[in-house]
Formats: sequence, structure tokens, C-alpha cells
Amino acid sequence: MTPAAPKLNVLVLAASLRAESMNRKLAELAAKIAEHSGAKVDLASMRDFDVPLYDGDLQEGAGIPQGALQFQRRLVASDAFIVASPEYNRSMPGTVKNLIDWTSRLRPQPFDGRHGLLVSASPSHAGGNHGLWALRVPFEHLGTRIFPDMFSLATAQTALADGELVDPALRERFETNVLAFLSLAEAAKHYPCMKRAWVEFLGEPPGEGGDRADPAPT
Ligand code: FNR
Repeated sequence: MTPAAPKLNVLVLAASLRAESMNRKLAELAAKIAEHSGAKVDLASMRDFDVPLYDGDLQEGAGIPQGALQFQRRLVASDAFIVASPEYNRSMPGTVKNLIDWTSRLRPQPFDGRHGLLVSASPSHAGGNHGLWALRVPFEHLGTRIFPDMFSLATAQTALADGELVDPALRERFETNVLAFLSLAEAAKHYPCMKRAWVEFLGEPPGEGGDRADPAPT
């Protein structure tokens, strides 16, 4: 008998510190969909990864802060991650970038080769989509395979109620987006050659950028 495929481990990060965060609610919904699909979910909050402002002198003196080490540990334990992030001033919140910056100093660099899905919720009519495009940049720079489709929930204060998307068409679109991402992450987990085939040329001379990006496929 063929053994059952191991479950996909998914880290879902609610990237807002606010207690009543709409992105927290969207993260919980993504986590619920992932769990129903059979994945093992680790639901995280920005509060789990408290870090000071990045300071190279602090890194030299005291090392990488516990919050970034904790994020690294939970990232490495996962096969894929989902981030639900607010948009601040058409970009990502500084808190999110700061956590990425600290965590990117670790070796092996923990974002490299991971699979990520970006979603957002906002009271605006654009749903925080600009923020997600900004968030793609550091992740892709660090070698993360960010899923092409991103989900931006507009007028989230009314679009989300009782932990569910009110509009059935939108609910279906969100579920399809999350499941399509999980299918790809699952395929990459079981067929690792796919991951190698996706390596983009990041501009480093061959052999010198291996700590940030995968080596070129042979
Ligand atoms: C915002 N907000 C916001 N929304 C948006 O769609 N585009 C934007 O550029 C901004 N800019 C912005 C800047 C700052 C400093 C704040 C505090 C807020 C509004 C934001 O989407 C709203 O506060 C959300 O509720 C934040 O997400 P959470 O905390 O509910 O998950």
C-alpha cells in the first residue's frame, strides 16, 4: 500500500498588531480553508515576533533578536506561508519590513526557496493591493516563490462578517486562490525539481549568491 502523503505545513501570519485587525480575520479565514484542505496550520501574529528597529550595531552587539529567531523557526517548520498584511501609505507597514529585514540576516537565509501567498484586507476600494505589490519585492529578492495571484479584500469592514466573506462570489474566489496556492506548494514539496526549475537569475555572479538564492539548475 502506498503511504499517505505527509500533510502540508502552512504558516499563516496575521501581519497587523491591532487587536481588531481585519487582516487577522482574513488570516483566520485562510487558515480555516487550509485546515479543511488537510494542511497543518500554524496561525501566527506579528505579536509573536516582536523585534526592535533594525540596527546593524545591535546585531553586532546582541545578535539577532528572539522575535526574528522565532519567525525563522516557524518559517523553517513550514512548507509554505500565507501573509495577510495591511497596506500603509500604498506600501507595507514598517513593522512587517523590519521583521523581514532582521530575519533576512540569518543563515541559511530562511525565505529562500519558500512558497508564499500574499493577501490583504483594507477599508479602501483597492483593498490594499499596492501594499501587496510592495511586499512582493523583498520576498522575491530573498528567493521566495510568491504565488502570482494575490487577494485584496476591499471595504473589508463590511465585506467580512462573523469570520466569513459576505459575498458568495468573493468567498469562492478567495477559497480558489488559497487552494490553488496550496496545490502548487504541495506539488513543489513532493516534486522538488519544480522548485529548482523556477530559479530566476538574480544578478549575482554564479556561485557567489548561493546564500540568498538557489544555485542555478543543472
Ligand atoms: C492606513 N490605511 C490604508 N489603507 C489603504 O488601503 N491604503 C493605504 O495606503 C493606507 N494607509 C494607511 C496608513 C497608515 C499609517 C494607517 C495606520 C492606515 C488604512 C488601513 O488599511 C486600516 O487601518 C486597516 O484597518 C489596517 O489593517 P488592520 O489593522 O485592520 O489589519
